Amino acid sequence: MKRPLVVAVANQKGGVGKTTTAVNLAAALAMKGFRTLLVDMDIQGSASATLGLSPVDESCVDVARVLLDERPLEDAICETHLANLSLAPAGERMAMVDLHLASAYGRERVFERALLAEGPQRLVATFDVVVIDTAPYLGLLTVNALVAADTLLVPVSCEYLPMLGLKLLGETVERLRQRAGARCEVMGYLLTMVDRRERITVEVEELLRKRFGDKVFEAVIRANTHHKAAPSHRKTIFEHEPEKGRGREDYTALCDEVIARLGLRRARRKAPVRGPKPADDAAPARALSRG
Ligand SMILES: Nc1ncnc2c1ncn2[C@@H]1O[C@H](COP(=O)(O)OP(=O)(O)OP(=O)(O)O)[C@@H](O)[C@H]1O
Ligand SMILES: [Mg+2]
Repeated sequence: MKRPLVVAVANQKGGVGKTTTAVNLAAALAMKGFRTLLVDMDIQGSASATLGLSPVDESCVDVARVLLDERPLEDAICETHLANLSLAPAGERMAMVDLHLASAYGRERVFERALLAEGPQRLVATFDVVVIDTAPYLGLLTVNALVAADTLLVPVSCEYLPMLGLKLLGETVERLRQRAGARCEVMGYLLTMVDRRERITVEVEELLRKRFGDKVFEAVIRANTHHKAAPSHRKTIFEHEPEKGRGREDYTALCDEVIARLGLRRARRKAPVRGPKPADDAAPARALSRG
């Protein structure tokens, strides 16, 4: 099966901008015409909530059900209101998943198996990119995301000195590569909540660029209250901010850099016009009418 490129947005430190980045990078890729799937692998379900898909009721299939029942990921894929952007929402039972995974067969690869399992619609293969939002800890759920990923995007908030946490993340990834056959590498470190008037921003940026060189994205995400407000309106930054907004600018620049780093070829489809589905995309994602 054609495998979409899988990008995990990960950092076990909480509140560094993982969800904001996963949602807005996915939206930016979709707007550039890449068929994009955002997978919410966080207990908090914040990415699902931002895209207006919360709460998901018990009977609906979501990522938690996919992992608990070992179903194809396809079962949990829903269309969003944005062209080219689909979502696999987290689900309320996500909190039970870590415990379940602990005793599952091939426990680090349950998500990868779900991703690669061909459902009747062969939906996963129709995506160009899968973006995974991960949880703020290095439990089995996050390990499953890291093992399935081709590449990692690591948001680093300019609010504290991050080196110890990044060392732990780097060691975890290395261990997964050696012991679990993971192949993901860090695509880049992304500075978030950047305010260059603040000493801590200058220090974190200097430290990171010195330590990781060009692994640090040139694009940075500036501190911007619109990022706090957008999720409560269930909007991405592209819908929430006016046209020349700084948040939109920042995530567009990040998206361009991601496209260049990954060598993604520009897709045929262009948002926001909802074009016809390609012929091989015969069975569309379930349209969402929940809640
Ligand atoms: N560039 C930014 N400027 C200002 N606030 C931001 C920025 N990016 C994110 N935020 C806000 O900071 C908080 C944490 O961001 P976010 O939820 O994206 O982080 P996270 O790493 O996903 O958190 P968690 O680890 O809890 O999942 C949220 O309230 C978010 O709206
Ligand atoms: Mg989050």
